[in-house]
Amino acid sequence: VSASTSVSRSLRAAGQFRPGCSVASAAKCWYPSRVKVDGTHRRTIAASPDGRAVDIIDQRRLPHHFVIERLTTMLDVARAIREMWVRGAPLIGAAAAHGFHLAMLEDPSDASVERAHRELLATRPTANNLRWALDDMRQSVLGIPPDRRAAAAARRANAIGDEDVAINQAIGRHGLKLLSEVHRKNPSKRIDILTHCNAGWLATVDFGTALAPGYIAHDAGLPLHVWVAETRPRVQGALTAWELAQEGIPHTVIVDNAGGHLMQRGRVDLCIVGADRVTSAGDVCNKIGTYLKALAAKDNGIPLYAAVPYPTIDWTLDGGLDGIPIEERDPEEVRTVHGADQSVRLFPPGSPVANYGFDVTPARLVSGIITERGVCRASREGLLSLYPERGG
Ligand code: MRU
Repeated sequence: VSASTSVSRSLRAAGQFRPGCSVASAAKCWYPSRVKVDGTHRRTIAASPDGRAVDIIDQRRLPHHFVIERLTTMLDVARAIREMWVRGAPLIGAAAAHGFHLAMLEDPSDASVERAHRELLATRPTANNLRWALDDMRQSVLGIPPDRRAAAAARRANAIGDEDVAINQAIGRHGLKLLSEVHRKNPSKRIDILTHCNAGWLATVDFGTALAPGYIAHDAGLPLHVWVAETRPRVQGALTAWELAQEGIPHTVIVDNAGGHLMQRGRVDLCIVGADRVTSAGDVCNKIGTYLKALAAKDNGIPLYAAVPYPTIDWTLDGGLDGIPIEERDPEEVRTVHGADQSVRLFPPGSPVANYGFDVTPARLVSGIITERGVCRASREGLLSLYPERGG
C-alpha cells in the first residue's frame, strides 16, 4: 500500500474526505474548520451577528489568555493590525477588508473610500495581502451608489474570508503530497518539519498556510513532529506551539539559533514557512530569520518550501531585495519580553536597538512554492506555470 493510498484511507476513515476522494483527487474534498480552542471550532475573524462590527482573537494575549475583542470602527481595526492584535499576512488582509466595511457603514462617500484605503494600508508595510485586499474592497464599492456601498463591502469582506479558507485548504492538500513522499521514503521514521514564525490557523481566517499540510497529515495518521522556532522578538512560535497543542500534534519549541544544529544532525526532513510577499521571480519575504533557516537548509540539502496563497504574490516585483518594504518596528519589542505573568527588560537602557520584522530569502534557496493551485519551482517560470494569466 503506497503512503498516499494509506493517507487517503485514513482520511476517509476519519470522515475528512468526501466518499470517493483520494489524495490525487483531493481538490474536490471537504475538510472541517481547523481553528479549535478547547475543542470548539471557530474562525479567527468574523462579522458580529448584527453585521455592524467585527470579532477577532486578540493574539497579544495568547498563548496564556484567549480573548475575543469586538471592533466597531475602521480606526479600531487599523489599530488592531498595527499593534498585532491580528497578524499574519492573510489575516491582516481579511481584517482590513472588514475594517473597510466598517468605514462604509460610518460614511460611504468617495472621500471615505479613499481614507479607509489609505489609513488601513498604512498600518503595516510588508504583507502584500493587505494592499491586495484593500484594492479589492475599493473596487467592490466604486461605481455603485453610496447608499449601497456598505452592503456590497460586507458581502465582499465575508467572501474574502471564505476564499482564504478555501485557498488554505488547497495549500494543505498540495503540501500533503510532500509530506507523504517523505513518509514513503522512510515509513519507520517520524516526519520532522521545521517551521518559523506562525503560519497556522491563527495567521489566517482558518486552516493556516505552512501548517495546513501538517494538520491534514496528522489527521491521516502520518507520524508528524514539528520543530517550532521561537521567532524573536514577538515570539510567534508560542502561537504555533499553542495551536499544535490544541490540535494534539507532537512538537518541540527551539530557540531560533537551534535550527542549523538540528539540520546538521539529520533531525529535519523538510522546512515549511509562510510568506508575506513573494516576488514574481520566487523570492520569499517572510518573518525575520527565515533567510538564516534557508541558508542552513541549503547547506544541509534539506528542502525548504514556502506556502503562498495567491494574494501574497506581488507580480509588480521582478525579484531581488530592493522592492520589498521591510517593516521596522518599535525597539521596545526587542528590549522587553512579555511573559504570562510579567514583563522583563533585557538590555542596557542606553544601547540602541533595531527591530527588523522581515527578511528576503532569494529564490535560489527556496525548493518550491506551495500554492492553492499546486507546487511549483520558486522562479518566474514556475509561478507562471500555475498562473499563466499573469504572463505577458
Ligand atoms: O509579523 P507577523 O506576525 O504578522 O508575521 C507573520 C509571518 O511572517 C507569517 O509567517 C506570514 O505572514 C505568513 S502567514 C500565513
